[in-house]
This record gives sequence, C-alpha cells and structure tokens, in this order.
Amino acid sequence: MSAAATKVAVVYGTRPEAIKVAPLIAALEDDERFDATAVVTGQHREMLDQVNSLFEIVPRYDLDLMRPGQSLNSIVARAIDGVDDVMLIERPDLVVVQGDTSTAMAAGLAAFNRGIKVVHLEAGLRTGDLDSPFPEEANRRLLSQVSRLHLAPTAHAAENLLREGVDPDRVRVTGNTVIDALLTASRWVRPSDDPALDALLTEGRPIILATAHRRENQGDAMAAIGSALADIALARPDVTILLPLHRNPVVRDAVIPRVEHLQNVAVTAPLSYADFTKAMAAAKLVLTDSGGVQEEAPSLGKPVLVMRDNTERPEALAAGTVRLVGANRARIVAETLRLLDDPRAYAEMANTANPYGDGLASRRAVAAMAELVGTGKREADFVPA
Ligand code: UD1
Ligand code: UDP
Repeated sequence: MSAAATKVAVVYGTRPEAIKVAPLIAALEDDERFDATAVVTGQHREMLDQVNSLFEIVPRYDLDLMRPGQSLNSIVARAIDGVDDVMLIERPDLVVVQGDTSTAMAAGLAAFNRGIKVVHLEAGLRTGDLDSPFPEEANRRLLSQVSRLHLAPTAHAAENLLREGVDPDRVRVTGNTVIDALLTASRWVRPSDDPALDALLTEGRPIILATAHRRENQGDAMAAIGSALADIALARPDVTILLPLHRNPVVRDAVIPRVEHLQNVAVTAPLSYADFTKAMAAAKLVLTDSGGVQEEAPSLGKPVLVMRDNTERPEALAAGTVRLVGANRARIVAETLRLLDDPRAYAEMANTANPYGDGLASRRAVAAMAELVGTGKREADFVPA
C-alpha cells in the first residue's frame, strides 16, 4: 500500500453482506491504491462469523450488536452510534456498504452525516413496493439518496437509479459480487462440516433445498411455507427436503413444528457457505425467499421457486429460471410437484443463466472506486454473456 492510499472502511453485519463483500475486500487488499478496513456491526453473530472465517477475514472492528429478537430500530440506532465511533477513529475516505440491511442503511447514513463518501455495492434494486421486502426496499432507496457511487449489479438496476434522477456519472454496472463468491466457493475442495450432509447429498434421492427468513413472511406466511414443505414431503416420500433454517427464533418456531415429524425433511442449522453452495449444486430445485439464492441458483442451472409475491431481481425471471409462487401453500406445493413430475416443465426452468455476474464484479467495483477518487480511469461496464 502506498503512503497516499485511499482509506476504505467496508461496513457489514449479516451473512449475505459478508458473502458479497468478501471478494471486494480481497480485491481492495490486492490493490496498492487502497487501504481497506473491515468493520462488522455484528447484526448477525454465528451466521456472520461463519462467512468471515471461511473467507479468512478478520475484521479490525466488531461492534458485536446482535441481540436475540432485536427490533429494527434498536439495531439501526446502535449501528449508527457504533459506526460513528469507528469513523472518528479511522477517518476513512470512503465507506462501502452492501445491499439493503439495517446495517447498510445505518452505516451509510452515519458516514454521510460525517461527510464521508458512501459507496453503495448492489445499488438500484427495486420492487417498487415500499412494504415488500420490508424494510429492505426503504433501506435501498434511502441509501441511493446518500451515496456518491452506485455500483449497480445489472443494467436493469442502473436504469432504476437513472429513472430516479441519479447522476449517470455516479453509476457503474459491475455485476454482482455474489457470483465472484460463488466461483471462489466452487474451487474449494473440502468435506462438509457435517459428514451426514455429504451422505445426504450423495445418496441419489432428489433433493429440494429450501430456505426462508424474510420479515414480511413472518407470521401466517411463514406458517404456510412450513405447511407447504410438509405437504410436499408427504406427497413425495422419494424426495428429501433439505432445510437449513435461519437462526431467527421467529422463523424456526413457525416452521419446525410443521416438519420435524417428517422423515424426509432434514432441518439443519444454517450451513457454511461452502456447504450451502455444494447443496445448491446437488439439489434438483430450490424453494426460497432469499435474495442471494435467487442470484446464485440460476448460474448453477437450478430452478428456483421464490416464495414471495414480488422480486427486485427480475433478470432471472426473464431468463425463465426463477418463478414467483408467493408464500402460498397450495401454489408452492402445486408448482413444486409440477417441476418434480413434468420433465418438460423442469427442463424449461433448468437452463443455466448468468444475468448477475461473471466473477469480475469486485474488480470493476475497485476500478470504479479508483475512478471516483481520481486514481484510475473508467472501465467497461458488466454485460452478461
Ligand atoms: C437480516 C436483514 C435481511 C437479510 C437477512 C439475511 C435487515 C432489516 N434484515 O434479516 O435483509 O435478508 O438479515 O439473513 O437488516 N440471529 C441469530 N444468529 C445469527 C443471526 C440472527 O441468533 O447469526 C437471530 C437473532 O435472534 C436476531 C434475529 O435472528 O435478533 C433476527 O436477525 P436480524 O438481523 O434482525 O434479521 P434477519 O431476519 O436476519
Ligand atoms: N446461505 C448460506 N447458508 C445457508 C443459507 C444460505 O451460506 O444455510 C447463503 C446463500 O448461498 C446466499 C446467502 O446466504 O449467498 C443468502 O443469505 P440470506 O438468504 O440469509 O439473505 P438474503 O440474500 O435474502 O438477504
């Protein structure tokens, strides 16, 4: 690193942010123009630590904020306060935040209020519905107001920003760093953390990989998701449902009682990213309300049924690999059975598509940051193959 290196604090707090900033932190560390510092709020604990340890990231600051059943306001308030303290010590030139979590929004606002330039990674995603996903749609829009550089993963996301009046010169299309992470994970050769998982993934039964956690799905919708999984397991005893469930007790309490008596439903703790990507590759299809999984599964050629009413990721819908089924018990069951029983329906969705990235998003993000601070020139935007 040179004496005049640009100081960058990368602030994150949850599992998906960690997965998506890990390749960027590595790229910044490899670039002499930057001096990168990893700052975690600890909005998540075990699920965050799992990713940091896998990617061998040791944050310089850990605010250790997670509390069981934390409210949105408590995490936002404590994150603003904690990130502010770190900025007063570190005095970074740039603060990078990722996506749309409470951590991202709080850190972006805290940096803005201190006059520090905010770089928003994965900018421009929109559903157009302020209530869904909640509160993420609001967090994204708020971040777009305080950011100086908007790193849009796709041309569609960039268009959303331009339509809202963001200066085109502040928007760069990089691809999504989640694909960089996924390609890194595909090169890891290691046994699963749990030998039973390796056995399950190789025993030859069709696997449905399922995850659920969204706040707007908590309550009746989460119960409907649990019941749908039970219906599928009962209807198809030849199939295994692998359900690595989020640690949120609200999610676990709604889903586990509905499936725990079923022999062909394997409920596990959240899997390490290494194991989860292996499970995605082994699965026949994926049921999820996750954002990141919607981006990863298409590049592995896996059909995804999204248990939400809308998505901010329309590219995979257009590519035909993703379908919205809502948190609707009957629809989840019907669409899953159709994919299991109708080879033509399955083949229509199981094509490999890479609308979200080519593995070079972090490099483009670093280039755009260099351009912003005057140490680099403009590079070409990401265009899907
Ligand atoms: C958060 C993000 C959401 C993201 C999700 C990724 C917000 C508003 N939401 O939602 O956008 O999709 O992370 O998973 O920022 N918990 C643990 N251990 C952990 C993590 C969570 O016990 O490692 C439990 C705690 O009781 C915690 C609860 O889960 O209070 C909820 O965590 P929180 O970060 O508030 O919300 P998520 O639903 O995880
Ligand atoms: N993931 C993981 N282990 C799991 C479930 C998911 O590593 O048990 C990864 C997944 O590959 C994706 C990310 O976590 O990259 C998605 O996180 P999550 O669904 O919690 O949040 P979202 O993407 O919806 O914000």
